Amino acid sequence: MVCGVLTLLLPGLSLAASLADLVRPDGVVPTSGQERPPRPTSTPRPGNYIKAALRKEQVQITNKVTSTSNVTTANSISALGPAPALPFAYSVNLGNPGQIIEVVVDTASYELYVNPDCARAANPTFCASAGRYDAADSGSSQNLTTRFGVSFGTGGYSGTYFSDVLTLGDDYWPVTSQQFGVATASAYVWAGMMGLGYGEGYNTPYPTLLDRLVDDGYISQRVFSVGLGGEGSGNSDIIFGGVDYHKFEGWMEPVEIWPSPAEQMEQFGQVGYWVNLTSLGHTRPDQQATDQLTPTGFTQMMLLDTGSTFSYMDSDLVAALAQQFDAALDDEQGVYYVSCSYLHGTGGDGYVHFGFNQGGVVIDVKYEDFIIDLGGRCALGVQPADVGAATWVLGDTFIRGAYIVFDQYYDAVWLANYRPCGEEAVADLGEDPGEQLWTEIYGGCE
Ligand SMILES: *[C@@H]1O[C@H](CO)[C@@H](O)[C@H](O)[C@H]1NC(C)=O
Ligand SMILES: *[C@@H]1O[C@H](CO)[C@@H](O)[C@H](O)[C@H]1NC(C)=O
Ligand SMILES: *[C@@H]1O[C@H](CO)[C@@H](O)[C@H](O)[C@H]1NC(C)=O
Repeated sequence: MVCGVLTLLLPGLSLAASLADLVRPDGVVPTSGQERPPRPTSTPRPGNYIKAALRKEQVQITNKVTSTSNVTTANSISALGPAPALPFAYSVNLGNPGQIIEVVVDTASYELYVNPDCARAANPTFCASAGRYDAADSGSSQNLTTRFGVSFGTGGYSGTYFSDVLTLGDDYWPVTSQQFGVATASAYVWAGMMGLGYGEGYNTPYPTLLDRLVDDGYISQRVFSVGLGGEGSGNSDIIFGGVDYHKFEGWMEPVEIWPSPAEQMEQFGQVGYWVNLTSLGHTRPDQQATDQLTPTGFTQMMLLDTGSTFSYMDSDLVAALAQQFDAALDDEQGVYYVSCSYLHGTGGDGYVHFGFNQGGVVIDVKYEDFIIDLGGRCALGVQPADVGAATWVLGDTFIRGAYIVFDQYYDAVWLANYRPCGEEAVADLGEDPGEQLWTEIYGGCE
């Protein structure tokens, strides 16, 4: 058995439970590679959750990007690179009467921002179509008069905090007096942003949207599930306080956020969804065998970032992967160009494999989901970390292969391969989401 990754937890944070506290009914503490309980016979209970449908937006970015960000700077927009961005967007409904504004869903930042300066946006046309918030048109708007400023590797927003009612999800649940930033100046950014990282007590002194969903009793803990899905797999959505067990098969694997949020605050001054990647592999369409591109014992901390189109890794690793795709590097842009035929199924059953917990879970991303269509040319979905972003990022080219529960209660992300079946089936994640995910919620349609 592998040495227990999950038992190497740092002394606990009082706010949340730790994975080491996750004692099964039979008294056993789960560790990586340990056998899971028998498959449950009952159906998980439905209950309180908020589901929000996401849309994939193609935004053509022409700017050449050079980034100076590092681990201590919010990394999100910086990771867009010299390419079209294909972020997953959500239309928030702000104010009374509601104003509809399209924002990028971003797990690598933590606040809600609206009203970028479209004249300085990387794509002014998209920016103009995304909608703007006008405080004067809302009866419930409040100018909080405090200023904010946030910079990403490439650009950022500054302006004034406001509060207003925000209605969320397919059922339009109201969150009253939600604080958010209304930009009066910005650079590069071409839409608003909905940050879903750690909020109050960590990255912000006030309750963020995710915090408010808990404070207002809509959901029990700060947890949400993301299923973006691959090309042509239909709906992308985010479920606050719930999990769709028809989007994956079997048990989800908990991967500890590392360093712990408390340690990240100490070391970086902010907290992100960082996890250790423990292997990278590859299977060519015409082969059965998987080539491991990383040595035994490999670990690399990676930031899970839905706001990033590309993933970013060590240049050696990217080069090794690129070789498998016969990709050619454009030195100036840091983009590896590949044949667009991979997009249209000629990638067959080729996969890129991302391993966590020393093989406890391996996410298999199909070739066609790992390639980005730049409009006529196609790029490998991973770039060297020193080009677009100075950090290691698991962006949408990874996330599309996975179903993920972001769990701020256990400080973990729960991973499974994205394998949709049948109709949607959402289980409520209650007071103890880890206990449920460990013992009750088993994916699949059987
Ligand atoms: C990261 O960036 C910040 C702000 O630009 C800078 O002060 C800090 O020294 C940098 N840290 C490292 C490790 O490069
Ligand atoms: C909000 O308040 C600030 C500070 O008083 C002010 O400068 C700004 O113009 C106000 N914004 C709006 C839209 O009223
Ligand atoms: C992550 O990897 C580092 C080494 O790179 C290791 O020290 C740490 O214990 C790992 N964390 C977890 C949770 O596996």
